[in-house]
Amino acid sequence: MTSDKQTAGVAAENHVKIFDTTLRDGEQSPGCSMNLEEKIQVAEMLEAMGVDIIEAGFPIASNGDFEAVREVAARVKNSRVAGLARATQKDIDRAWEALKGAEAARIHTFLSTSPLHMKFKLQMEPEAVHQAVIDSVSYARKLCEDVEWSPEDGTRTEHDFLCRCVESAIKAGARTINIPDTVGYTVPEEFHALIAMLMNRVPNIDQATISVHCHNDLGLAVANSLAAVRAGARQIECTINGIGERAGNCAMEEVVMALRTRHDVLPYDTRIDTRKITPASRLVSTITGFSVQPNKAIVGANAFAHESGIHQDGMLKNAQTYEIMTPESVGLTRSTLVMGKHSGRHAFKSKLEELGFRLSDNQLQDAFVRFKELADRKKDVFDEDIVALVDDAVVRH
Ligand code: KIV
Ligand code: ZN
Repeated sequence: MTSDKQTAGVAAENHVKIFDTTLRDGEQSPGCSMNLEEKIQVAEMLEAMGVDIIEAGFPIASNGDFEAVREVAARVKNSRVAGLARATQKDIDRAWEALKGAEAARIHTFLSTSPLHMKFKLQMEPEAVHQAVIDSVSYARKLCEDVEWSPEDGTRTEHDFLCRCVESAIKAGARTINIPDTVGYTVPEEFHALIAMLMNRVPNIDQATISVHCHNDLGLAVANSLAAVRAGARQIECTINGIGERAGNCAMEEVVMALRTRHDVLPYDTRIDTRKITPASRLVSTITGFSVQPNKAIVGANAFAHESGIHQDGMLKNAQTYEIMTPESVGLTRSTLVMGKHSGRHAFKSKLEELGFRLSDNQLQDAFVRFKELADRKKDVFDEDIVALVDDAVVRH
């Protein structure tokens, strides 16, 4: 799956920019709102992680959003700070007012281009939409030299019209063209083809970076983002823990670790310090009160936990048997072997040693039988339960 232009070397650069929208699209999900201080904490964490662009909010949305964008813009020095604006001068002015103190600022302006959105949401004819794209991007460009344009509902937009709007947005000065899968409708092969189509058909596409912004309604946001990168996209929009409207946005931790872990087939790099992934995930879930599901890839409580005897035995021999990345690489100190009814003798012995017990073969056999009886009755077997099981006669060292 490679586009002609990519193979021709136009998109040979293999750096993928990470555009984090936790503070804008993430914060828009029900129950996820953050106050000013919390937004600053998250922004500082994103900056420390090496995020290229932090979308700090939608300044026209409220005074709180405006203040948050202004404050983040004033404090962050090592990431570009973006603010969202609809295609009106009022929105764009407000965004610029909030952003202008930034070391590096970006105005991100958008307008729907799909037939459904133009007819029912905007109630505008395609010609008027096309003109508004040119006007809004040109206006934003007068204020800020870094302008990103997004055709909202891009994946359900008619191709000729999408190409025309993208070409005009670039002519008007947009240097990033972001293709949103606003309703999480597309599938990877289709999204790859869409990006490849833009790379091949839009004559001035070389003057812009293609970005992708995927929602997770079908659980495909990460897969779609990776497919787009393979077709030539070089910016991924994402959020910590995948928070965002409805089923959320592309999860930053997943897409970054996929690029890092499968560099053999996805030879693209990001600037993210992956060891900060776990602290960032915990910060966002603590602040928003949105807990992370235990089996969530990369940051779920079970992502590096093993219970079955066969897996625990494999892990004790060589961690690569059941782990494709190290816990340290995402900021954890180690994997956990969870003691339960599926655990085997090898893991049990290792747990006892970790707890400071050394048992003879007979003692171990005896304790293991009692451990299995307990594990059948009790869902979670804690360290204290194991300590209580072990005979007083056992030597603790
Ligand atoms: O999902 C979407 O289309 C958006 C745009 C504003 C980029 O969030
Ligand atoms: Zn979105």
